[in-house]
Amino acid sequence: MVKVLSGLFTSSIGRKGIMAASGLLLSFFLLIHAVGNATTFFGAAVFNSYAGHLHSLGFLIYIFEIGLVFIFLVHIIFGIILALENFQARPGRYQVSRSSGGRTPGSRTMILTGLLILVFLAVHLKNFHFTDHSRHISLIVKGILAQPPAGIFYLLALAGLGLHLSHGFWSLLQSLGINHPKYNNFFHRSALVLALTIAGIFSAIAALALLWPKFLGG
Ligand code: HEM
Repeated sequence: MVKVLSGLFTSSIGRKGIMAASGLLLSFFLLIHAVGNATTFFGAAVFNSYAGHLHSLGFLIYIFEIGLVFIFLVHIIFGIILALENFQARPGRYQVSRSSGGRTPGSRTMILTGLLILVFLAVHLKNFHFTDHSRHISLIVKGILAQPPAGIFYLLALAGLGLHLSHGFWSLLQSLGINHPKYNNFFHRSALVLALTIAGIFSAIAALALLWPKFLGG
């Protein structure tokens, strides 16, 4: 058991597996967060009621948040380790990936978009989580996203999220061994569609708050 666990941390395949597992859990969170936030499309009352139900879960939310922080940390730390490993092995890998045409905008910018998401998360939690919750959450969200500097920053960061997810989902499938020359095109496209759907829902909220005065009750 100890040997299996230490192998997970010390072997490159083990580290990629941890990256994939943490990425999968974060993707579940993002999907649920995107679907939950999509209640904004039905008006401020529906969104506030959804947020109210979440808060009524009480201590379960704290357990969930601790788990989420842990998974984010694992994903970030192992992402940095893998990026350093890739950097060290660069000359050989570069030629292989170039000739196979396997590099995409998503894979090339993984570290950059990862850092952008990290900065976004810090800003986002300060905006919506570590803030005065005596007002309705719809007013808090609208108050931030309707300001052009914040709204534009959110839109840029969400574009980065879409790019990060497009490669992340594809990479996840590879790590899970879901790979077949006949279906790889389909897998690639599915990863792209899922990434665009998640980033698209968040971006639509940010764009509506920025551009449509009546969104979330004005
Ligand atoms: C337009 C886009 C987004 C909106 C409007 C939004 C809105 C919110 C709101 C209202 C909260 C709850 C704050 C609270 O009640 O404490 C929240 C929490 C959170 N959001 Fe977002 N979010 C967006 C995008 C994202 C993205 C892209 C990520 C991740 C990359 C993210 C990660 C989180 C995390 C980690 C929390 C804390 C969860 C918790 O405290 O339970 N959000 N967001």
